[in-house]
Amino acid sequence: MTNVEVKLNNPYSVVIGSDVLETLGERVRSVTKARKALIVTDSNVSALYLEGAKSSLRSAGFEVFDFVFEAGEKSKTPATYFDIINCLGENGFKRTDAVVALGGGVVGDIAGFAAATYMRGIDVIQVPTTLLAMIDSSVGGKTGVDLPFGKNLLGAFWQPKAVIADISTLETLPEREWKTGIGEGIKYACLVGGRILEILLDGVENNIEEFVQLCVEYKASVVVADEKEGGLRKLLNLGHTVGHAIEKQSDFEIPHGVAVARGVAIMAKAAYACGELGGNERDVILSLLTKYGIELPCESSDMAEGRNMSEAFAMDKKAEGNGDISAVVIRGLGKCEVSKMTIKQFVEYISKV
Ligand code: NAD
Ligand code: GLY
Repeated sequence: MTNVEVKLNNPYSVVIGSDVLETLGERVRSVTKARKALIVTDSNVSALYLEGAKSSLRSAGFEVFDFVFEAGEKSKTPATYFDIINCLGENGFKRTDAVVALGGGVVGDIAGFAAATYMRGIDVIQVPTTLLAMIDSSVGGKTGVDLPFGKNLLGAFWQPKAVIADISTLETLPEREWKTGIGEGIKYACLVGGRILEILLDGVENNIEEFVQLCVEYKASVVVADEKEGGLRKLLNLGHTVGHAIEKQSDFEIPHGVAVARGVAIMAKAAYACGELGGNERDVILSLLTKYGIELPCESSDMAEGRNMSEAFAMDKKAEGNGDISAVVIRGLGKCEVSKMTIKQFVEYISKV
C-alpha cells in the first residue's frame, strides 16, 4: 500500500493499494465528522461494490444513503447533478455530512460537484474504481458536468478529504475502460517520460500499483504548484483540446481517455511535422497507442477533424476570452510546453500532420 500526500492548504492523502475498500468505513471516518454519508455511484459499479461499501461505512457508524445513476458520460448532466442535490436535501443532509464518490471519472466529477455546491460545500471522499479515475480525475479537485455546448462547462474546484484507490477493483474493469485509462497514462508518459514511460512500454499490468503511484505523484505536484490552473496545470490538458472535440463529435461513443490518446498522437505528429519533435520520439508515442489497441488517427481524418472542429475548440473551456487556446505542445518525451495560439493557428498546426 502507498500513500501520496497532496500538500495543499487543506492537505489530503491518496491511498493506493489492494483491498483498501475493505477498510473504507474507518478510512472515511478518519477524515470527516459526518454523521450521514451519501454514496454516489453508477449502475455498473453499484452491482459490484455498493453493498460492500455500504456495510463498511455502516460499521464505522455512518447513516448510509445511496444514489445510483445510469453508467456513462451521457449521465454527466445538470439533471443528474440536481437529482443528487435533491437526494441530499430530501434525506436531511447537513453541512457537516459527506458524499462518497464510488466509481469512475463520471461519478467522481458529478458527485464532487454536488458536494462542492450543496450548502456551499460539504465533504467528499473520492473512491475511484477505473484506471482513469485513479491516475487522474479523483485527484486535484476538478468537478463538474457537461452542457450541450461542451464538456465540463459547469463545475467547481473542490478538493476531496481523501482519495481511496483500491487497485483490486480494476480486476472487473472491461477492456474498453482499460484503454481509456491507458490513454490518460500515455499523456503522463509524454509529460514526464522516465519510469512512467518505461512501465507503459513494458506492460502496465506488470506494475499497476507503481504506475498509479507515479502518475498520482506527478499530478499532485502539479496541482500543489497551480491548484486553479493559472499556468502550469494547463500541461495536464495535453491532447485534450483535440480529444474533447473528438469525444463530442462521436457523441461520446469514443471514450474520454481514448480520445485524449488520439489527441496526443495528433499533437506528436504535428510537432514532428513542424520539426519540433524527433521521429524516434514520435514513433515511441505512436507505438504506445498501437501496443494498447488504441486506433491511431489517420492523416486524412486528422485533416477533416482539424477543419471541422474550430467551433468545438472555441467552446472548449480551455479557450480564453479572446478565443486563444493554451495548446500543449510536445517538444520531447518529458518536455512539453504550453503555447498560446489562436484557433486558426491551432487548426493550421494540427492540419500539418
Ligand atoms: P466512467 O466513470 O464512465 O467509467 C467508465 C465505465 O466503467 C462505466 O461504464 C463504469 O460503470 C465502469 N466501471 C467503473 N469502475 C468499474 C469497475 N471497477 N469494474 C467494472 N466497471 C467499472 O468513465 P472514466 O473513464 O472513469 O472517466 C471519464 C470521465 O472523467 C469523463 O467525464 C472525463 O471528463 C472525466 N475526467 C475528469 C478529470 C478531472 O480532473 N476531474 C480528469 C480526467 C477525466
Ligand atoms: N485532468 C486535468 C486536470 O486535472 O487538470
